[in-house]
Amino acid sequence: MSIPTITLNDGNTIPQFGLGVFLMPPAETQQHVEFALANGYRHIDTAAIYGNEKEVGAAIAASGVPRDELFVTTKLWNDRQTDAEAAIAESLEKLGLDYVNLYLIHWPTPKFDTYVQAWHGLEKIRAEGLSRSIGVSNFHEQHLRRVIAESDVVPAVNQIEVHPSLAQFELVAVNDELGIATEAWSPLGRKADLDDDVIVRIAEKLGRTPAQVILRWHIQRGLIVFPKASSPERLKENSDIFDFELDADDVLAIDGLDAGYRVGSDPESMNNR
Ligand SMILES: NC(=O)c1ccc[n+]([C@@H]2O[C@H](COP(=O)([O-])OP(=O)(O)OC[C@H]3O[C@@H](n4cnc5c(N)ncnc54)[C@H](OP(=O)(O)O)[C@@H]3O)[C@@H](O)[C@H]2O)c1
Repeated sequence: MSIPTITLNDGNTIPQFGLGVFLMPPAETQQHVEFALANGYRHIDTAAIYGNEKEVGAAIAASGVPRDELFVTTKLWNDRQTDAEAAIAESLEKLGLDYVNLYLIHWPTPKFDTYVQAWHGLEKIRAEGLSRSIGVSNFHEQHLRRVIAESDVVPAVNQIEVHPSLAQFELVAVNDELGIATEAWSPLGRKADLDDDVIVRIAEKLGRTPAQVILRWHIQRGLIVFPKASSPERLKENSDIFDFELDADDVLAIDGLDAGYRVGSDPESMNNR
């Protein structure tokens, strides 16, 4: 499998495809991540709140894949926005790593108004080499513009919910304008988009699966994806998307499924800690 890379605004590169481990029970995580790494995955997306950083780290250690071939992301949880340096130290300890490739502010949690302070913490973390790149997640345009106006570093990525029924054309255009790469979380809409008639028809026409068609749509948009899967078959199926293309009509038909439908929280009202 040859996974394309995207060059971030800080010059670092990120594999455009990887594995997400949200809702992967810790008892199963090492096995799935090890299987993924043995089968060509090189990019793992976790977070402090997922509770499985330790098992991700165990899989990385057991895999034998050289550290410089891996791209590891973790995220600062909402209750640590004023305490980012201590929070990343805990994540690195659990992961068994000296640095991560990407550290993200998980949510802006606007009610608490501490995301700019959190960003200053991430700037220090990058300067200290504890994360090679820094970015944000679930940020809307006003959050992005404020962070950029009040700091010296433009986020390298904005990780947002994107799938065919929530295509996010406007926010992706804002990210593009600001030089921020878009990562698409819940790229399959947590399965919600797999049964859609348009997706199923294109999959049948191409002899592919609905998941492969949706992942290919993201890749052709230039987005970064890391679907979560927990069986060897699905892990292989999801990564087998680099030897076919959707044509312009297929892309237009999938673009037309946008319905503003969220499977996750709205960043404006998500203030959980
Ligand atoms: N920044 C954020 O706030 C945020 C929020 C949510 C997610 N994320 C990140 O994005 C990653 C992906 O999002 P997600 O896990 O919410 O949703 P997702 O990847 O869109 O969907 C995962 C679901 O789809 C199923 N699935 C995977 N491959 C499949 C296939 N080929 N055929 C049929 N079903 C398939 C999985 O089942 P099985 O597991 O049973 O195989 C699982 O139930 C997360 O793991 C996490 O890293 C970030």
